[in-house]
Amino acid sequence: MSKRDFLSTADLTRAEVDDLLDLASRVKGKKPGQVLHGKTLGLLFFQPSLRTRVSFEVAMVQLGGHCINLSNDDLYELEPQEQAVMDGPAEEHVKDAARTLSRYVDALGIRAAARSGDWARDRQELLLRSYARYASVPVINLETSFGHPCQALADLMTMREQLVSLRGRKLTLMWCNHPEPKSLGPTHSLLQVAALAGMDITLAHPLGFEVDDEVLQKGKATAQDAGGALRVVNDREAAARGAEIVYARSWGAPKYWSDAEREAVVKRSLQDWRVDEALMATTKNALLMHPLPVRRNVAATDAVLDGVQSVIYEQAANRAHVQKALLMQLLK
Ligand code: CP
Repeated sequence: MSKRDFLSTADLTRAEVDDLLDLASRVKGKKPGQVLHGKTLGLLFFQPSLRTRVSFEVAMVQLGGHCINLSNDDLYELEPQEQAVMDGPAEEHVKDAARTLSRYVDALGIRAAARSGDWARDRQELLLRSYARYASVPVINLETSFGHPCQALADLMTMREQLVSLRGRKLTLMWCNHPEPKSLGPTHSLLQVAALAGMDITLAHPLGFEVDDEVLQKGKATAQDAGGALRVVNDREAAARGAEIVYARSWGAPKYWSDAEREAVVKRSLQDWRVDEALMATTKNALLMHPLPVRRNVAATDAVLDGVQSVIYEQAANRAHVQKALLMQLLK
């Protein structure tokens, strides 16, 4: 039997998402016990993390297994290209690292969200996909520049807990200002699962901050098939009006992927793109979501992040529950 990876929400069917979230809700309500006793999850972080790292460690320990964590400083520079002549800085090919690690651990989680400056390259998730190709154990995407499927499942679980049925519910996914160009991962993955759930999605961003066009077009088709909709709006007030969920998130634009300095200049005139009380007052008493970390009073104000409609910590908590469900499906 071939191994199963968890690389993208685009690979999932509605039934698979529902099964995973149903299991996550069950393990949240009732601890499943030591079902992964003796199993080891290897976590490779090429960028910093608080939530992903800790929630996976907690999930494994609560299921009776454990994690081995490696960060950038522990790892050789890796070459993901096939047939590369390795006379540059990369000391080891991914195929050798992946095949070796597969002899030690039962699954691998990889955060590889580096920004090369070439969107056509970064959207291919070369390092993650190369690990998945050569590892003989399941590989889990812990965030790339293109996708963050674990975050999106926790987001959907949180929405389900709050609203029960998601079909037709009004989600506004709002670009927010940020001094750095952030990954598009959480945005893309949330668009994919929210479309699958048939939500009525408004993607709001200033002109120039379009998401990957293939993700957008597929999202529109998926949402329509599921009885929902996906539209793009370039006006933050119009986008927020009547929303039942405002999901705040910043992302770096593919348009400026090769020119971060230009993007920083453009963003100087976009400081009003943040979520505040005045904007939330125009919604339908919307929930406020954000995947964290958040730049307080830049992306969203203290008042809304700490307000009664904020579910940002429920989202973070649900990371551990969906990941327990995922690990049980992949490893049991
Ligand atoms: N939301 C999220 O993935 O957080 P970390 O970057 O802290 O893991």
